[in-house]
Amino acid sequence: MPGQKNTDSDNPILRITDLKKSFGNFTVLKDINLDVQKGETVVLLGKSGTGKSVILQCIIGLLYPTEGKIEVFGKEFISLPEKEKNLIRRRIGFLFQSGALYDSMTVRQNLEFPVIRQPDYENQNLEEKVEETLKNVSLLESIDKMPSELSGGMKKRIGLARTLMLDPEIILYDEPTTGLDPVTSNEISLLILDMQKKFNVTSLIVTHDMACAKLVSDRIVVLKEGTLAAEGSFDELKNSDDEFVKGFFEFE
Ligand SMILES: Nc1ncnc2c1ncn2[C@@H]1O[C@H](COP(=O)(O)OP(=O)(O)OP(=O)(O)O)[C@@H](O)[C@H]1O
Ligand SMILES: [Mg+2]
Repeated sequence: MPGQKNTDSDNPILRITDLKKSFGNFTVLKDINLDVQKGETVVLLGKSGTGKSVILQCIIGLLYPTEGKIEVFGKEFISLPEKEKNLIRRRIGFLFQSGALYDSMTVRQNLEFPVIRQPDYENQNLEEKVEETLKNVSLLESIDKMPSELSGGMKKRIGLARTLMLDPEIILYDEPTTGLDPVTSNEISLLILDMQKKFNVTSLIVTHDMACAKLVSDRIVVLKEGTLAAEGSFDELKNSDDEFVKGFFEFE
């Protein structure tokens, strides 16, 4: 049922167990443990340079954990053959910080691209799907524009639309509102909320934007010195006694 969270804690859609990640002698993540339930929206807070993007990249398989286990949809991603990895990857959307659109393609082509390159692609209603998805981010009028003609906020929304083209069950967002004005940031936050309500999407969101965190999060986790040092609802953490945790809420 859309918008309903699965509280079956034995079957999380994403489970990170004892994750450690080092680059050479430099250990970024010491011991990360996190379960995310289907339909849940979890916000990940942490200071700059402490490994938030590294966590997302480990989940999607762009980086290999040094130690520990990551299970998505009940399967350990890393140990799967490439073909199965790709099947799982297409069920996970990744919204890069920059939007990462292809500059030489129109908005329409950008949205078509991830669909066309699927091995089992059939040209079924692709045009309709592109239009419907652009409507979801309120940018249908930009369908024939080039990325260079779009503002930063529009690029982010198109990036999100492209992610949505494969109907992901999990979306990983890396700072979806950073660098945007408060009004556009709020629009993106409302879109994230909408995806959860309409499609029961599970989200893990890295953000420094506390207005976004307040609006979208079911739960917040806080990264500190390579471990998740605190977790709770927005209000619980806002009223925390921990100075480090409180620091994120100072300007709220
Ligand atoms: N591929 C890589 N090779 C070597 N070091 C890396 C690599 N990726 C990240 N790091 C290092 O890991 C640390 C954490 O980086 P990460 O990008 O995860 O930080 P972050 O918490 O996302 O910061 P920000 O809020 O600034 O985006 C940094 O010191 C970074 O230099
Ligand atoms: Mg980052």
